[in-house]
Amino acid sequence: MTEPTRVLLIDDDRDDFLIVSQMLSEAEYTRFKLDWVQTYEAGLEAICGRGHDVYLLDYFMGRHNGLELLERVVETGCRAPVIFLTSHGNYAVDLKAMEAGASDYLIKGQFTAPVLERSIRYAVASKRSEEELKASREELKLLASQLLRAQEDERKRIAMELHDSIGSSLSAVKFCIENVACRLDDNPEVRAPLLTLSRAMEQAIDEARRIMSDLRPSMLDDLGILSTISWFSREFEKIYSGIGVEKLVRIEESQVPENLKIIIFRIIQEAMNNAAKHSRAAKISLNLSFENGSIVLCVSDDGIGLDRSGTVSEGRRGFGLSSMRERAELSGGKFEIESSRDSGTTVRACWVVGSC
Ligand SMILES: Nc1ncnc2c1ncn2[C@@H]1O[C@H](COP(=O)(O)OP(=O)(O)OP(=O)(O)O)[C@@H](O)[C@H]1O
Ligand SMILES: [Mg+2]
Repeated sequence: MTEPTRVLLIDDDRDDFLIVSQMLSEAEYTRFKLDWVQTYEAGLEAICGRGHDVYLLDYFMGRHNGLELLERVVETGCRAPVIFLTSHGNYAVDLKAMEAGASDYLIKGQFTAPVLERSIRYAVASKRSEEELKASREELKLLASQLLRAQEDERKRIAMELHDSIGSSLSAVKFCIENVACRLDDNPEVRAPLLTLSRAMEQAIDEARRIMSDLRPSMLDDLGILSTISWFSREFEKIYSGIGVEKLVRIEESQVPENLKIIIFRIIQEAMNNAAKHSRAAKISLNLSFENGSIVLCVSDDGIGLDRSGTVSEGRRGFGLSSMRERAELSGGKFEIESSRDSGTTVRACWVVGSC
């Protein structure tokens, strides 16, 4: 036999208790165990005890109203549904109750035993699915943040592997070629192709370095986020010579928690690459600051704005915007994008880190 549904009625009227009690005992398909308290205080105490599957709440309770109690219920983190019972039908109150998170709003004298039974059953079932959904969202969030961390670890590992294997082999080969070329001063026909080869090796080394630092700028681990940002904006200006970068950093290295450094860097990287690829901007402002216990990152461009760059509406959906948001939010931060035709696009991320 299944367990009875545990119901708590919070109502100062004894007659209402008798009516509800009678109705629940008549229920054909569900067994109920009804408890009753008469005051706001006793109701709150019982709710904190978490011993019920559903609460039936009188809307008008002397000095207090049911909405106050519902707010306290939500504050205590109680997960059981609340159904309001009221003697006056009032659409505005009904709406307020719904917005505050009530599962149903029944008018005394107008509902029957089957209606009450069904309302409780639906409230309990939908609250349960809501809770399950919440739990799977939390799990998904956790998985996503583990995935991001694993991706960064893997990138770092590959970058180091490339550095230690291909990077050092290429440098060794280049060194040998130049060494041999030096000894062939009197044989220009052999020396010239060796020097060409050496230049090709140089390019290969540069290319390997670029790939490594795209994977993970080693500077981030060696010198920190502030030096990495300076290096990145210098490189950016070299590549996109038509775009000026205005950098304003008002934060100390020690104020940035270790785990946020790579996240801040990735957001800057994506926001600036987006500006270069899509915005037709002439100027990018990059601000990183510490304000009232928060780290605030802001990358804005003076380009054409998100709506007009058009690629979204053409159906090509990128990962950049969502991955910036994901990185910021999964690390406990807030993320927003503002965009307009006249003022370009601004990407803002912010993390409360306290007074470190
Ligand atoms: N700074 C910007 N100015 C104008 N449009 C932008 C800007 N940033 C993004 N967009 C628009 O938003 C779209 C989505 O950006 P998102 O970074 O998600 O994808 P993407 O850059 O196209 O591809 P990916 O980042 O995956 O390489 C872009 O295709 C572009 O249309
Ligand atoms: Mg992008």
